[in-house]
Amino acid sequence: MQVDVGVFGATGYAGREAVRLLSVHPRCRVAFATGRADGHVSHEEGLSRRADAYLLALPHGVSGSYAETLRASFPAAAVVDLSADLRLPTAAEYAAWYQHQPPAPALLGRAPYGLTEWSRDAVRGARLVANPGCYATAMALPLLPLFAAGLVEDDVVVDAKSGATGAGKGPREDLLFCELADDFSAYAPGRSHRHIGEVEAALFAATGRRPSLTFCPHLLPVKRGILATLYVRTPHPAAALREAIAARYAGERFVHVVDAPPRLSDVAHTNDSRISVHDGGPGRVVVFSAIDNLGKGAAGQAIQNLNLALGLEEGLGLPSLSGGRA
Ligand SMILES: NC(=O)c1ccc[n+]([C@@H]2O[C@H](COP(=O)([O-])OP(=O)(O)OC[C@H]3O[C@@H](n4cnc5c(N)ncnc54)[C@H](OP(=O)(O)O)[C@@H]3O)[C@@H](O)[C@H]2O)c1
Repeated sequence: MQVDVGVFGATGYAGREAVRLLSVHPRCRVAFATGRADGHVSHEEGLSRRADAYLLALPHGVSGSYAETLRASFPAAAVVDLSADLRLPTAAEYAAWYQHQPPAPALLGRAPYGLTEWSRDAVRGARLVANPGCYATAMALPLLPLFAAGLVEDDVVVDAKSGATGAGKGPREDLLFCELADDFSAYAPGRSHRHIGEVEAALFAATGRRPSLTFCPHLLPVKRGILATLYVRTPHPAAALREAIAARYAGERFVHVVDAPPRLSDVAHTNDSRISVHDGGPGRVVVFSAIDNLGKGAAGQAIQNLNLALGLEEGLGLPSLSGGRA
């Protein structure tokens, strides 16, 4: 039997990727897709359409209220929210990072944080899932096993680069082709990027330790992909950190520890994460982490979570260069 999925925000980058993945998913089909474009239903009309599951690829500040309405109208359906609206545990933390009150405060702390490899027991059968952010996924996948094993100090520096789809489709001068092409720049300096709060909260929830992150995002003149370079302080050799990460993800279909620094082209258009670990000089190890921001960083992980929530095999319909399509 096919599962009907309603995709909200299908005219945006993450929602469009979700529709693309669902269109070749062996068990799901797109029941409707919302957006202001031909062939789409309006966002508001989608709220009255019954489906087995919903993916919300809407802006933060909006998405949470859609989740609340769908939960009330269709309590049997699974809802996966790709926005940040359900990711932080408290309204105070949300307001501190987003500078406005959360749209659905009653739902905070009630949806598992869907970094799937760390939360699959909670996501399995869940009716509401908070899908992680793209940078947050790239950072948390290598950091979680290192913090859980107590191998690194709290002080972590992350230098990350993202393709321009990470910023969404809204018109912005700095995203014009002539501003972006053949150029490279940093943005959100200081402790201003919101994914810092998300990663610190996720690490605290999983390990009881709250790291001190210095996070510098950069805008790459490519469409998709994130490469994060993490500089961690540790008394241990790089081989010990590599082994801890590899052991934690042994047998995982989508997370792979590799020898050479991963390239964006290794992960583009897949749900894969690739991680490599290297000596960084005395007391320091360098970790590279690559994902596709629209794949494992958004729509791919959302469908991984959706599969689990619906009781389907977790990797169903998801592309992987390492494991193939399930
Ligand atoms: N892009 C990424 O790499 C990425 C990664 C992880 C998570 N996310 C999250 O996923 C969500 C979507 O991101 P995106 O990059 O796909 O954004 P986007 O390209 O800007 O698309 C936004 C979508 O939301 C709709 N929308 C905009 N304002 C709305 C409103 N007031 N009410 C209802 N719908 C509205 C738009 O539809 P119309 O314009 O057609 O109305 C469009 O379909 C965001 O919360 C984002 O943080 C994105």
